[in-house]
Amino acid sequence: AAPLKIAVAGLGTVGAGVLKLLETQADLIEQRCGRRIEVVAVSARSKGKDRGVDLSAMRWYDDPAALAADPDVDLVVELIGGSEGPARDTVATAIETGKHVVTANKALLAIHGTEIALKAEAKGLTVAFEAAVAGGIPIIKGLREGLAGNRVSEIHGILNGTCNYILTEMRTTGRDFADVLADAQALGYAEADPTFDVDGIDAAHKLAVLASVAFGTPVDFASVHIEGIRQVGAVDFDYADQLGFRIKLLGIARRTEAGVEQRVHPCMVPKTAPIAAVDGVFNAVVAQADFADRVLFVGRGAGAGPTASAVVADLIDIARGRSTPTFGVPADQLGAATPSPMETR
Ligand code: NDP
Ligand code: HSE
Repeated sequence: AAPLKIAVAGLGTVGAGVLKLLETQADLIEQRCGRRIEVVAVSARSKGKDRGVDLSAMRWYDDPAALAADPDVDLVVELIGGSEGPARDTVATAIETGKHVVTANKALLAIHGTEIALKAEAKGLTVAFEAAVAGGIPIIKGLREGLAGNRVSEIHGILNGTCNYILTEMRTTGRDFADVLADAQALGYAEADPTFDVDGIDAAHKLAVLASVAFGTPVDFASVHIEGIRQVGAVDFDYADQLGFRIKLLGIARRTEAGVEQRVHPCMVPKTAPIAAVDGVFNAVVAQADFADRVLFVGRGAGAGPTASAVVADLIDIARGRSTPTFGVPADQLGAATPSPMETR
């Protein structure tokens, strides 16, 4: 079969990770989807930067939106970041010019997700975003496909690897906040602007996207209550420990009769709860479903390898010809779902 020709916009932690994975696993991927995935074009800010991957066979674009318009491309991978500017333009151009999109950009989806889904679905295109929530955990596929026969009434979990890493290091080593944050940045976990991590905004972006997938409702970032971890200090860890708790930044979304409730804030989690033991860069998501009951997903929430794994899972789906509505139900029907009697008990 003809190769799937892809263009990658953004060659930072995740973009370079994706190119490495595609190169290392090329034969395995071809075996699994019956065709090769070929990177034909790339874009980033600095052309000369060494990214540890060979770009010589790929067309270079300074402008990622121009890359997205390249007629010899089937699919655009957006790994720039940010809800506006080049990332938004790149995705818009890709859809306008008839290309599927894979993105890890939860900020873009949290703010413009429904609009993007409507435009893509009207053209029969796929927008896939497994990497946008909880890094290497297949949580979007888990909810949208694995729990497709259920109504989900609640999701909660640790959705930001940087914050969980900071809270874990501060609690277990006594190191200070700024020092550990610098580590998380050096490890490639943090957002380009790390205030998005530590102020809870990144977790809120992910929660809004997850809630849409879990409940079949439109993405509603504006209604998320958000608190970050700046106020948490050594004394809090000590008291929590003495009382039998761990402090975790959680995202929590529930369907209630009054609508969807969404919040992100530091929580006291009993040490006996499975997610209390989820430390470091690991994330965890608990879904409460009416037939499957409680399901727990755990894995690395950030970093090049786990995030590239999620991006490539989406690429393989599309290379195999699979197509699912962006948020699990067609975007023009989002919001139609109502809680079942079992969930509201
Ligand atoms: P980086 O900051 O490491 O990389 C961003 C890339 O975008 C860089 O290659 C940069 O170019 C390029 N870029 C920035 N602005 C422009 C522009 N105007 N035109 C062209 N290229 C541009 O980010 P990450 O790889 O960490 O993150 C990428 C996306 O993935 C974000 O949406 C992020 O939220 C998401 N994500 C990140 C995870 C992680 O663990 N890091 C995990 C899950 C999702 P240059 O290199 O030349 O500066
Ligand atoms: N900055 C994010 C985090 C990257 O730390 O969780 C993964 O989305």
